[in-house]
Amino acid sequence: MTQFTINGRAVSIDADEDTPLLWVIRDDIGLTGTKFGCGIGMCGACTVHVGGRATRSCITPLSAVDGAEVTTIEGLDPAGQHPVQKAWLDLQAPQCGYCQSGQIMQAAAMLKDFPTPTDQDIDATMSGNLCRCMTYARIRAAIKQAAA
Ligand code: FES
Repeated sequence: MTQFTINGRAVSIDADEDTPLLWVIRDDIGLTGTKFGCGIGMCGACTVHVGGRATRSCITPLSAVDGAEVTTIEGLDPAGQHPVQKAWLDLQAPQCGYCQSGQIMQAAAMLKDFPTPTDQDIDATMSGNLCRCMTYARIRAAIKQAAA
């Protein structure tokens, strides 16, 4: 049994300890805002926070979050009013939207390390979060607005 908190709620999961956290979040806990893209840690669609740090849930085994605090897009702000979420809406950052929860979680974690990020900070931190609609310019603008 693996125990951790997700979005502030304590959970106990009875699954193989090698199960990717992504599948536990989606299938066992039923939070589907976190997306599957590549499954090998290369696209960022599955990004969540573990202990406040951006983490690829598709390559994180369940055993790695025993006792940890996990946050998904659903828990970033209970009312969906995190500054990053507000900026995303203001600037209509998404196109198809599939990658955007991962983008938002990566951006929110980045702003803790870089409260006023430069273009270089943004590019360096966000380069692992891929968007097939090429919304990168709007994502960069939204991050700057969220930081302002
Ligand atoms: Fe996890 Fe692509 S699905 S990085």
